[in-house]
Amino acid sequence: MESTHRRVLVTGAGGFIGHHLVKRLKVEGCWVRGVDIKPPEYEPSAADQFELLDLRAWDNCLLATRGSIDQVYNLAADMGGIGYITASLADIARNNTLINTHMLEAARSNGVRRFLYSSSACVYAGYKQKEAEIAPLKEEDAYPADPEPGYGWEKLYAEQLCQYYWHDFKFETRIVRFHNVYGPLGTYDGGKEKAPAAISRKVALARDGSEIEIWGDGQQTRSFMYIDDCVEGLLRLMASDFHDPLNLGRDDLISVDDLVNLVARIAGKKLHIRHDLSKPQGVRGRNSDNARLRKVLGWEPSITLEQGLAVTYRWIEGELAKAGRVSAKTAATA
Ligand SMILES: NC(=O)c1ccc[n+]([C@@H]2O[C@H](COP(=O)([O-])OP(=O)(O)OC[C@H]3O[C@@H](n4cnc5c(N)ncnc54)[C@H](O)[C@@H]3O)[C@@H](O)[C@H]2O)c1
Repeated sequence: MESTHRRVLVTGAGGFIGHHLVKRLKVEGCWVRGVDIKPPEYEPSAADQFELLDLRAWDNCLLATRGSIDQVYNLAADMGGIGYITASLADIARNNTLINTHMLEAARSNGVRRFLYSSSACVYAGYKQKEAEIAPLKEEDAYPADPEPGYGWEKLYAEQLCQYYWHDFKFETRIVRFHNVYGPLGTYDGGKEKAPAAISRKVALARDGSEIEIWGDGQQTRSFMYIDDCVEGLLRLMASDFHDPLNLGRDDLISVDDLVNLVARIAGKKLHIRHDLSKPQGVRGRNSDNARLRKVLGWEPSITLEQGLAVTYRWIEGELAKAGRVSAKTAATA
């Protein structure tokens, strides 16, 4: 799909989506520079060059975009699961504003041809996400604006900035709104992990027949997209000529309790759920409307939650076994 020898910069290449994207771009025959403040956690980057740079600094953004880069996938961001993004509003908003404003201008001034910005379903208006059985969110449902405090407000503003660059300078920007991406090689512990990884870890660590703690009442709903679909969608959007924001997610809803039950089934365990209502649980329900995605890309994510979670669960269980936190025998035979 990507033509060979294209020179591509991936920011956030030490992170979950960025790392997978670099691998795929190499398969497509691109020359890839990866930039992050940290290397990938679980295996070395496949990038031709991997540079440790803090992209909050303007000079580092100029360095990252130097040398005839054709395309930038700007994935670097200060982010995490619901616990993290509700606790660090100022840091997240400030760090991401600096990264995105500087990266956009550095890419333009260094003659980059295309710039893809990774936004989020957190831009959607809170008042449209108050029920668990919720209508899927169309791209226009981000307005009138009422996004997630901190993280979501910054994403919405950076989307606008990308559109201004297209409007004023004809700088080719693409804007993707991810809905809950999961898969192997993603953070699964430490406070920045998201629900599928956190639940997989809790299930893997739990004894059969025991109890696990889940944040909220378990009735909150989401949709989840496997990483391979996410990467495929990114390449397709970059290759398109579409400048407005575009959802990239699956459109089948599942409650958090059902997600736990699904992971427990994959693990072959019977578990009881204890709900901790004191913990943040985010919006009540959120789903992706894929009508525009199908129209623009002629495609939509197809990997089911059962398929994707089976791979993800086994990977997390294997990592926990390597760390001596579950027995290697259990991990191999489950
Ligand atoms: N994973 C999801 O479900 C999801 C959902 C919506 C939006 N997104 C967006 O997609 C992008 C990638 O997300 P991810 O899941 O791979 O997250 P991630 O946290 O794994 O990756 C982000 C990377 O950005 C890096 N980074 C942070 N600050 C930096 C800085 N100052 N300079 C350079 N690098 C810096 C981090 O070190 C990290 O490796 C982010 O923009 C995120 O907001 C992800």
